Amino acid sequence: MTTTPLIEVRDLCFSYQFGKKVLTDVHMTIPRGTRVAIIGSNGAGKSTLFLHLNAILRPRSGNLFYNGQLYEYSRSFVTMLRQKVGLVFQDPDVQLFAGNVFDDVLFGPMNLGLASDVARRQTEKALIAVQLLEYGDKPAHFLSHGQKKRAAIAGVLAMDPEVLVMDEPTAGLDYPGILNLNEIMGMLYDQGKTLIVATHDMNWAWGWAELVYVLAEGRVVAGGSPDDILNRSDHRALGYERPILGEVYEKLKKNHMILPGQQRLPRSVAELVNSLSD
Ligand SMILES: Nc1ncnc2c1ncn2[C@@H]1O[C@H](COP(=O)(O)OP(=O)(O)OP(=O)(O)O)[C@@H](O)[C@H]1O
Ligand SMILES: [Mg+2]
Repeated sequence: MTTTPLIEVRDLCFSYQFGKKVLTDVHMTIPRGTRVAIIGSNGAGKSTLFLHLNAILRPRSGNLFYNGQLYEYSRSFVTMLRQKVGLVFQDPDVQLFAGNVFDDVLFGPMNLGLASDVARRQTEKALIAVQLLEYGDKPAHFLSHGQKKRAAIAGVLAMDPEVLVMDEPTAGLDYPGILNLNEIMGMLYDQGKTLIVATHDMNWAWGWAELVYVLAEGRVVAGGSPDDILNRSDHRALGYERPILGEVYEKLKKNHMILPGQQRLPRSVAELVNSLSD
């Protein structure tokens, strides 16, 4: 039995006006409830692909499917889709535009047509989740870059989407900010949400992702488990750094410093430490 992927991208081609092709024959399946990392060099097409996932951009050719349903670009379909697929932009300044942080986050749920008290409750919950409630009455430009990123995440959380698509959410966050984001994503994952993240942070992706796709010059050049995709010795040719834990584990194993029976590649420093012999 095959299960319908939550999102499927089929033969997607796209170019910006008057430009060269930015995405070429992109094929991608996103199973429901999965943590997916999209990696690739600057300009590979990650953000452009993300703008297709919630129908901000429309393919020149090819199709997208949400839960088996072909993307349409009618008002009603796009409204339905944007409630299900929440996109956190790479640049929070693109996302934040209302007078203050609370109103900014409130915009999404109000726009969905929720009753005002429900929308306000969801806004408050989202701001608490990203630890920004006390900044609710501040104009967005009073926030630091990292705080703006968290406010943008709250804007999407408040809409309670099924899929969260986040464009480099860890970039510019400090350590507590990353821990907070990990915690939020863990909670969403436990609720069965699907999480799709573009990142340049291979160490973070290694510890987090279940499925990885690599984009290069607008094409999907590899897809699979982190073990297969990230932890390989030809990573330089593919344009990304190998996760430190994979590299260190291999060296330690060669030197017989890993406990017998500990064959699983460590996903965290704690796992690596636990697999060491004395
Ligand atoms: N609004 C635009 N108009 C014209 N070309 C654009 C536009 N946005 C992006 N591009 C081009 O599309 C290509 C892909 O850009 P995109 O932003 O999708 O890459 P990316 O993988 O997200 O890169 P990064 O890692 O730097 O965020 C680049 O060549 C870029 O110059
Ligand atoms: Mg980008």
